[in-house]
This record gives sequence, C-alpha cells and structure tokens, in this order.
Amino acid sequence: MFKRTLVTTALPYANGPVHIGHLAGVYVPADIYVRYLRLKGRDVLFVGGSDEHGVPVTIRARKEGITTQEVVDRYHELIKSSFERFGISFDVYSRTTSKIHHKFASDYFRKLYDSGKFIEQTTEQFYDPETGHFLTDRNIRGECPHCHAAGAYGDQCEKCGSTLSPEELINPYNAETGNALVKKPTSHWYLPLDQYQQWLEKWILEDHKEWRPNVYGQCKSWLDGGLRPRAVTRDLDWGIPVPVEGAEGKVLYVWFDAPIGYISNTKELCDAQPEKWGKWETWWKDQDTRLIHFIGKDNIVFQSRWLIYLAG
Ligand code: MF3
Ligand code: ZN
Repeated sequence: MFKRTLVTTALPYANGPVHIGHLAGVYVPADIYVRYLRLKGRDVLFVGGSDEHGVPVTIRARKEGITTQEVVDRYHELIKSSFERFGISFDVYSRTTSKIHHKFASDYFRKLYDSGKFIEQTTEQFYDPETGHFLTDRNIRGECPHCHAAGAYGDQCEKCGSTLSPEELINPYNAETGNALVKKPTSHWYLPLDQYQQWLEKWILEDHKEWRPNVYGQCKSWLDGGLRPRAVTRDLDWGIPVPVEGAEGKVLYVWFDAPIGYISNTKELCDAQPEKWGKWETWWKDQDTRLIHFIGKDNIVFQSRWLIYLAG
C-alpha cells in the first residue's frame, strides 16, 4: 500500500474564468476524493494553480488592449477566489509566473539540455510576414483535414477532436490577423521520443495497466503509430526564456512548463511549511507516494507526453 497520495488538478489557463464544466469534470471530483482520503486519516497533498503562459493569454491581452501580465493577474485572482468560494480545498494554489516556478522549470530544462537529452533542429515554421512573428500551433487556424470544419486549430480540431499539426491544416492563416502565412526557418529543441519507444512501451503498456482505459488506449495508439520527436520550445515573447545562449526570443513550450507547475507548487508549499509537509522530493520521488492527476479529456495527450519527460 502507498504511504501517501499526491493529487493534482489541471492548472487552468489564466485567460478566462473557470466555468461549471471545469468544476464538474475536474475540481469537484478531485476535492471529493481528497476529502475522503483526509477523513480516512491518509497523508494527502492537494495541488492546484494557474497556468499563466502560452499563447491564449497573449491573445486575450491584445484583444483587451492590456498587458499579458495584467491578464494573468486578473484571472489568477478570479479563478483562485472562485475555487475558494466553491470550497475546493487545495493545500496550495499558486501560479506558473511565480519565481519558484520560473527557476524550477528553467533548471529542469537545463538539466535535460546538459545531459544531452534534446536534439536541436532547424525547421520551416509558419510566419506572419506582416507582424514579423512566428506562429505557435494554437495561433494558426485553417480547415480541418479530417472533418473539414473551418477554423480548426494547429494542434487540435475542436469539432471532431483530432490531434493536428499545423502542416495538416488546409489554407492556414493567422488566427488573430487573418493574414495568410509563409514558411520561414527557425531552430528549436526537441525531445526525441522515438528513441524512447521501447521502454515507453514497457513502462506504459505493461507496467501501468491501472491507467484509465481511455488514457491507456490513447497512449497505446500513439505507441502503435510510432513516436516522433517533439519540440519543447517556441518562438514567443511570453513565457520562461530558454536558458541557453543564443536562444533570445524563445521560451519553453507551455506544455513543457505548466505540468512542472505541479512540482514547483508542491515545493512552494513544502518550503513554506517544512514541519508540516516535509520535503517536496518525498511527494515526487518516493516510491511510496501515489500520484493521481485529475485532468480534462482534451488534456490527455499533453499530460501523457509530459509524464514521459518526467519518467525519462
Ligand atoms: N492550462 C491547461 C488547460 O486549461 C491545463 C494545463 S494542465 C498542466 O487545458 F498539466 F499543464 F498543468
Ligand atoms: Zn475536424
């Protein structure tokens, strides 16, 4: 039996209020589970926080004519107080713009970088010649190649749920300006998941049969299809700067840094009250700790990839 349980809930994007779907799907079930464990006298730590990087907050800032910092400040406070008023009993609720998180995520990248875990690659990316910006997947829209819905995103079609890459979109355009896009070379760091195919098959398909059937099934289908290298950096001026010389204008991909927020928020709590919570490492590295993630369906692909970085 596990000695303690760490429960995490998806970090909501600080680009809008939480709505009832988030509460019903993620936060209330997690809260019920945590309260149950506490009643049973189990050792449990309940982590939440706001996800304040990525493209959506920058888009909202431009739309509202305010700075990105003002957007995340506003929505972090709003979301945090909604959770409080709803009685979601987090032990810690922090944010990915915190100092602790910036340092932690940056060091995390650097450790992988220094041990040669990334490959650097220059590829042609979509670029808006009028604004002079490279576009991230989420900022590119076009027709879905599968269901032909208009306005599918470069990473996902919200109509049919397919996972996409921007190359697959028909007639891609800048989601904000509507400008047609051109391709331009830029370099990024990739995690070569293809090199880990074998042990991942064992780790997930054999050793983690207890994962939820839909999560297990999704992972199995990617493994069966063959894994590919995934970029962990982006050309963007909002986020955690890539801690490598010559990487100006590049930040950590939000799906690389946000899940690390689970760990840095744990660390923030443990550092503040070590006598009560002990060391963050006990919650994240000890074999006797059980880790349970509450997430939405549309988060499965990203969260699973991240677990792979973590396990690697
Ligand atoms: N911000 C994401 C969303 O709202 C969830 C991030 S979960 C985490 O869909 F794993 F990155 F923390
Ligand atoms: Zn579609």
